[in-house]
Order: sequence, then C-alpha cells, then structure tokens
Amino acid sequence: MSFIRALREAAEEIGPGIVADRRDIHAHPELGYQERRTAAMVAARLRDLGIEVRDGVGTTGVVGVIRGRSPGRTVLLRADMDALPIQEENEVPYASRTPGVMHACGHDAHTAILLGAARLLAERRAEIAGTVKLMFQPAEEGGAGALRMIEEGVLDDPPVDAAFGLHVDADRYVGQVALRAGPAMAAADSFTITITGRGGHAASPHRAVDPIVVGAQMITALQTLVSREVSPTEPAVVTVASLSAGTTDNVIPAVATLRGTVRTFSPEVRQQVEARLREIAQGIAAAMRATAEVSYRTGYPVLHNDPAQVELVRAVVGELLGPEAVVERGPVMGAEDFAFILQRVPGAYLHLGVRNAAWTVPRPVHTATFDLDEAALPIGAAVLTATALAFLAKGPPGHGGGA
Ligand code: NI
Repeated sequence: MSFIRALREAAEEIGPGIVADRRDIHAHPELGYQERRTAAMVAARLRDLGIEVRDGVGTTGVVGVIRGRSPGRTVLLRADMDALPIQEENEVPYASRTPGVMHACGHDAHTAILLGAARLLAERRAEIAGTVKLMFQPAEEGGAGALRMIEEGVLDDPPVDAAFGLHVDADRYVGQVALRAGPAMAAADSFTITITGRGGHAASPHRAVDPIVVGAQMITALQTLVSREVSPTEPAVVTVASLSAGTTDNVIPAVATLRGTVRTFSPEVRQQVEARLREIAQGIAAAMRATAEVSYRTGYPVLHNDPAQVELVRAVVGELLGPEAVVERGPVMGAEDFAFILQRVPGAYLHLGVRNAAWTVPRPVHTATFDLDEAALPIGAAVLTATALAFLAKGPPGHGGGA
C-alpha cells in the first residue's frame, strides 16, 4: 500500500500545527466532564476542515464524521481529552496555567494527534471508500466517558465496523509502537469495606470491639486472595490503598474503612475475587464480633485487542516506520476505558513511544514531571490515518479480503 509511506511525509509537514495544538491543550488542562474549552477547540478545528460535527455527546464529547466519496465500511478513531488533578512541576512555556490540574497522562497529545489525523483524512476524502468517525471523549480517568458516548450513539449512524486508538508510552522510544493481541489491559474494580465495631476507651479494649484490629486482620487475609486462591498463571492484583479510622490516641473508634482496587484479566477470576473478598471481609468481621459492609463497584472491563486488527496495525506501522518499530507489549494491570468500545466492535489499542533517546530515565505518566518528545506527535497522526485508510481499503469481508 504505497499511500502509507507518503503519509509519513504529509504528517511531518503538518507537525508544527500538531505540536501547537498539543501545547495549547497542555496549557489549558480540564478535568473529566469539564473539557469545555478543549471540546470547543476540537469542534472548531473539525468544522474548519469541513468535517460534520456532533458535539455535546456524553456531556463534552465531540464526534467528527468524514464521509468518503464512495460507500464502504466505517472505522472509528478515538482520543481522550481529560487531564488529571496533579500540580505540574515542569518549567516549560506551555506548562499548565490551571493550578492543580495537569495533562500528566498525555491526553493532550492524543487529542492533538487525532486532530492531525483529521486533517490528513479530510485532505484525502476523495480517495476514501467508506466513513471515518473521529471520537473525542471526556473523562477517561475513571469517569467512563467512552461508555457515556456509546450510550449516546457514538457507535451508531453509521454503525462502526472497527475502532482504533492510541496511548502515549513513556517507556518506549519515539519511533516505536507497542502492540499486543488479545487481552492487553486489566479489568479494574474498586471496593469499600466499612467495618463497624464498638467504640470505647483505649485503655479498656475488652469493653470495645476495635474495628482497626479487625481491619488489620482483613488486610492480611486479603493478601491470600492472589497468593493462595487465584491460579498462579492468572494475573491479578488486590490492593488495599486506603485505611481510615480514629481521631486521636486514646479512643477506640466505632468504624474503620478500607478502600482498594482489584485488577484481573479473566471474567472467572474477576467473579472469584469479588465473591471471596466479600466472604473474607464478612467472615473475619463476624469472627471478631464486628460487622462488615462491602461495596464492590465494577469498573472498566478487560481491554481486548482483536488479533486480525493488531495484524493490520503491525503491517501499517511496518510500512510507515520499518518492521523494527513494532515492539511486543506484555499485559499490564492498568485499565483503559477504550475497553468499552473494544467490547462492542473489533479493533486495536496501540502504545506510541514518546521517550526521547537522550533521557536517561523515563518520565512516567501520572507524575508531576511527565513530558513527551513531541517528535512522536506526527508519527502518531500518520499511524492512525494509515490504519484507518488501510482498514477501509480492505473493503467488506468477501469483497477483496476484509480484516
Ligand atoms: Ni491515559
């Protein structure tokens, strides 16, 4: 597919515009479901390109629809727009101007990259058979913005046949793209255990039921879920991340609260861990004369990359950047709400290397000093554009191959 290599050059030409967009978004970060400025900028950019725009989808989400010259399949490309509640420590001209809010997960780059892809695709509309949908979503960081947009029809009218998205990868170098077929990112659930005992004088523990001691037993017992109950060949994490109880040093409180996260890769293990977490919490509470109320919240599902679509991306990246650019990625216990899209349509989520070769240590996401090498931005735009065009060029199954 000779159009692919030409895209690399075209993306480099519009690179300065992509970088400018990224810096503008970076300087004005917005938290989940508050991405009004970002969404307005995205909608304006798309309209300037003559792209049909639907805004206010799932609160602040924006959908662009690029209809090709002839009919065909529909492919969706997705970016997320939300920032994190972190105070930026980088001293750069485009540093966050909003105290306590920072694009520390690279969603500014995702949005700018997809705007770059929008431009490349709009310029090639005459060559497109089918439709490209551009999804700019709110609230990836825990707010399930993708699910909200699905509920408001992002996958319908026209129905989406495949979906692709990317995330910056602070461990991989610029020019690398990491892929993994099958289950790639974990399901993420959260829990709160409220332990109720009986408060009392700290010097008379026999007259109280100490919920802190009950909680300590519970934390220890929960460690056995992964070490003694889940198969050693199945990835799983149970972390108690918060323990709160008491106000002073001489009063036994009546209540203690544990909060944490559960990460799993299979539905069976997910159910097993939830069921046993409830039994362990309630069993230990009962044995120690307390009660435990368990609130278990099901979060993002496992992100599943369709092997056929991963192969498509692998071929595209190989042609754009050379076969050595593709690196295999192991499963990670992080979660991603693009998984809601990939639950419904086949597709692939790829990780774009953004580490500068001169950096001796990576600058990890979700930290106050996260940053990326902007040379990765046009590469990302070229990869997404080429992937969409390659998917549509294959045509429907039975009409020249199909994916
Ligand atoms: Ni992210």
